[in-house]
Amino acid sequence: MKTILELISDEVKTAFNKAGYDPELGQVTVSNRPDLCEYQCNGAMAGAKVYHKAPAVIAAEVADKLKDDPVIEKAEPVNPGFLNITIKGSFLADYLKQMTACEDGRLGIETPKKQTVIVDYGGANVAKPLHVGHLRSAVIGESIKRISRYMGHETIGDVHLGDWGLQMGLVITELKERYPDLPYFDDSYEGEYPNEAPFTINELEEIYPTASGKSKEDEEYKKRAMEATAKLQNGVRGYRALWQHIMNVSKADLKRNYDALNVEFDLWKGESDVHDLIPDMVKYLKEGGYTRISDGALVVDVKEETDNKEMPPCMILKSDGASLYNTTDLATIMDRVKKYDPDRMVYLTDKRQNLYFEQVFRCARKTGLIDPDKELIHIGFGTVNGKDGKPFKTRDGGVMRLEYLIKDIDDRMYARIKENRDIDDDEAKAISKIVSLAAIKYGDLSNQASKDYIFDVDKFTSSEGNTGPYILYTIVRIKSILERFVSEGGKLPDIEGKACGFTVPDSAVMKSLMMELTGFAQTVTGAYTEAAPHRICAYIYGLANAFNSFYHEVRILSEEDEQKKQGYIALLVLTLKELSTCIDMLGFGAPEKM
Ligand code: ARG
Repeated sequence: MKTILELISDEVKTAFNKAGYDPELGQVTVSNRPDLCEYQCNGAMAGAKVYHKAPAVIAAEVADKLKDDPVIEKAEPVNPGFLNITIKGSFLADYLKQMTACEDGRLGIETPKKQTVIVDYGGANVAKPLHVGHLRSAVIGESIKRISRYMGHETIGDVHLGDWGLQMGLVITELKERYPDLPYFDDSYEGEYPNEAPFTINELEEIYPTASGKSKEDEEYKKRAMEATAKLQNGVRGYRALWQHIMNVSKADLKRNYDALNVEFDLWKGESDVHDLIPDMVKYLKEGGYTRISDGALVVDVKEETDNKEMPPCMILKSDGASLYNTTDLATIMDRVKKYDPDRMVYLTDKRQNLYFEQVFRCARKTGLIDPDKELIHIGFGTVNGKDGKPFKTRDGGVMRLEYLIKDIDDRMYARIKENRDIDDDEAKAISKIVSLAAIKYGDLSNQASKDYIFDVDKFTSSEGNTGPYILYTIVRIKSILERFVSEGGKLPDIEGKACGFTVPDSAVMKSLMMELTGFAQTVTGAYTEAAPHRICAYIYGLANAFNSFYHEVRILSEEDEQKKQGYIALLVLTLKELSTCIDMLGFGAPEKM
């Protein structure tokens, strides 16, 4: 289905043609002066240069050809040569009908070619608790995954755990310090290892920072940690068994945290999963002549002629032969290509990894690990800051655990709900859980990913302004009007695959709402192409505003003209559907009541 802008442009292009000018001049844009008109065309200005005519003359000639147009209500030539365009209400109503008539219920979204997409997000590392820095990877990644799915693509979300490097050796070394008698450390032990892990999640979370601290001060300790890493990677039985315990305990805790965020992965793969593929990959890279030795390390050059910034080579093996983060990422690309043949891979990390991913992507392409026509996208996101503009911290200056951050917002939301009305505790808890998640996620997603933003609890939990709760209030408001309509004997129209009874707008607020509603397919498609959920936030904020203006001005249920009333109800149903679909793509839901 064509976008409304394309349809209007088609009319204006035909008019340019009829008046004897290049039809391409008839491209229309949304008006940047909504007080004057709805759409505008600046083609006469460009045409003036080509045809050596005054732009105002061209604009007037084109406007003349647009009289009695089925789409355009008014095309007004204004100096020095713009066309100010207003569209017909009947055209708008027809357009909305066509949207709801789409059989797949997707309101005009088209998926010409079904793709396979992998979203690599979450960024969790084993044995380390999630902190506020992990929020964005999880929240933005989850949304990108859902948008891709809604677009009809086969989409796989992978957490890609950091579960292999020195961090694991550190944890094992510290465990050995504390419990040297465990069978895992006894090389002559041949029996079965215990099923129970010899530590709890709380201990595990304390072990990593302790070990990491010690290794920075004590060379000997660090050496032991490196040896432990090597033993683990070389497959020493006791070390693998202990590692498996660390994985199980840590993963169970990570799952619980991601559940609380309504974030769900299809794959719980990690760096360790590609360990065995590395030797073959290195062989392939060497034999292909892609590598060279630099200071003892094996590298692939990825610099290009056009670079005007520093572009160091991509390191494949360190001088001691050990693999690195790069190596596992390249092997993962190779593995994914083989298993899933993805058309697109999207990675989410902090923007400090921008250069890193550029090196890895270039290396993968240059060496043929992936075809050049496949999309590799890295979304490098900005920092979550506190109100002081510095990275968000706990009150005493420590790293903020994600779990506590969520709890904090939830408590705040709960208090607000209890303040506002008389409601029992359980209901208030259930509602606050849903709304606080929306507050956090929308607060994050409404910012363009690459920008830093301020995590402002008061603002995010407010029911006014560009916030999650505001969107939810709007949804709940629509639901309650529709419920009343039904309880008064009304019948809701079916908008899945049916041309609904939209009517010609009878007020400016109604027309604005209808115009907003037409943008759904274009917005979602754009959000997919650009891997940019903030576009969906901007869309639903505009839509919610348009709806609320309509609601404040128009008496919906007391309208006596039956046809008009049905038209209003159709608008409510469509608005509800668009808002609900969009928040689902953002990764949160709405409560029945608020
Ligand atoms: N665990 C990594 C980190 O903490 C992020 C992983 C991102 N994904 C990837 N394929 N490299 O930085």
